[in-house]
Amino acid sequence: MSFAINPRRTFAIISHPDAGKTTLTEELLLAGGAIHMAGAVKSRGNQRRAHSDWMKIEQKRGISVTSSIMTFEYDGIVCNLLDTPGHEDFSEDTYRTLTAVDSAIMVIDAAKGIEAQTLKLFEVCRLRDIPIITFINKVDREGRDPFELLDEIQEALALDVAPVVWPIGMGAQFSGCFDLRANAYQAPDQDGTRYARSIACQGLGDRLLDPLIPEEVLATARENAELAAGAYSEFDPEVYRSGHLTPVIFGSALKNYGVKALIDLIAAEAPEPGPSPAEPRTVSPSEDKVTGFVFKVQANMDKNHRDRVAFMRICSGRFRRGMKLRQVRTGKDVMVHSPIMFMAQDREIVEDAAPGDIVGIPNHGTVRVGDTFTEGEQLRFTGIPVFAPEILRRVRLGDTTRIKQLRGALEDLAEEGLIQVFKPTIGAQWIVGVVGALQLDVLAERAKQEYRVDIAYEDLPYEQARWLRAPDAKAMAAFTEHQQSAIVLDRNDLPVFLAKSAWELEYKAEKNPEIEFLKTREI
Ligand code: G4P
Repeated sequence: MSFAINPRRTFAIISHPDAGKTTLTEELLLAGGAIHMAGAVKSRGNQRRAHSDWMKIEQKRGISVTSSIMTFEYDGIVCNLLDTPGHEDFSEDTYRTLTAVDSAIMVIDAAKGIEAQTLKLFEVCRLRDIPIITFINKVDREGRDPFELLDEIQEALALDVAPVVWPIGMGAQFSGCFDLRANAYQAPDQDGTRYARSIACQGLGDRLLDPLIPEEVLATARENAELAAGAYSEFDPEVYRSGHLTPVIFGSALKNYGVKALIDLIAAEAPEPGPSPAEPRTVSPSEDKVTGFVFKVQANMDKNHRDRVAFMRICSGRFRRGMKLRQVRTGKDVMVHSPIMFMAQDREIVEDAAPGDIVGIPNHGTVRVGDTFTEGEQLRFTGIPVFAPEILRRVRLGDTTRIKQLRGALEDLAEEGLIQVFKPTIGAQWIVGVVGALQLDVLAERAKQEYRVDIAYEDLPYEQARWLRAPDAKAMAAFTEHQQSAIVLDRNDLPVFLAKSAWELEYKAEKNPEIEFLKTREI
């Protein structure tokens, strides 16, 4: 593929499980001509398999655990769609994926409104002022009142809402949607099953619609749309791009309502790749020289090759296949022979790529999450977080002759960001730390499938972990020596303090004001 001069839109879809993210992804890819048949992303029934579902655990649980990246073209625009894990537990992978996008789509189930997971992901977007388009899905089913949903978004997210596609009835009365921006009625086909045609008119009040929609349903929709126009903000692209307003589309991914409006909105209004924060200077996408950072590493994507792919977001310049890039952390130059891009159903070698694109760099463990690549400049992209784990377990190995494989599994999966691994300063058994309990299941399952190691977990008396930092090396040495049994080292040999309770942590912090106890650190 070679389309380095086309504009880019790099965005993620975020949602709570079951809100309809997979279905919407599929419809977007269909709209972009990247796939030709609905069902290619995740086939229905007991053979649920998404493009990113290469893990058995995903199939068992029917959830998407790993994130994937898909590139397609729509209306001359190259869209890079990044999937985020939507399960209830949370991994750092999700946060990091959001560092690589310029905007996000939030999918909400019309019957449920904002759920815990969406709220958490949303907070991350707010932190970074990532502009969000909200897609309220499943309006073909009985859902909550549109006003209630809009008010909830407005309040929970502290964000102005601007409805841009309005539902005409919901559930049994559902009769299509109205695109308020395009002034077009999205009418169902004869069976009423799918969005079939767009009827242009002068607004929802246009008499042209009278014979097409049941009288009562239309009257209510007209009244509500008018009320909504008075009660909520008008869509202002600038305010949306600054991250303070979310346009809201009421639609149905399954029946294709609102999907075209969504992709048209992304194409017309979503932000282009912007400047990327780095030390010692911010990088502009218009610079000539290539720069990028790695936000994700995935091991064993291709079971036959046992390879790893590092996902790099291009931040500036025009990347070309075969070019030499400096890995700033190691100072080594790396020739990128076979960079890959991920199409809907395939991966393919990419000849060139532009800012906003995600390029996969196959490697054997030399590239890490957080790595910056440049054409020689000493730069470091910032803002890629690591979070203190909330669950800590000691790893026990069933068959001790497999110790080497265990080390490999832990190192690889820590590299991917699935888990964090700590070495005690006393004793030899590894400790793993995760943000959500599901990650422990994923670790055990992948260790078994990919490394043939059976592992079990032992509880630890610790509940909290904090990185330690102190300007005074002597104070640090004194503290770590005194607390030796509660000190572990992370993969970079940085000291981490394990506390038995929040109370203990607070107590230690109070008693040792010269030491900082950090909940997050940057890679
Ligand atoms: P997820 O990736 O966010 O977890 O959600 P997914 O797309 O898998 O959708 C979850 C369920 O909701 C699926 O039904 C899907 O068919 C349904 N769904 C998605 N969008 C709509 C919509 O606009 N309207 C209606 N009525 N349903 C929708 P399922 O029965 O769990 O799975 P399946 O057997 O249909 O695959």
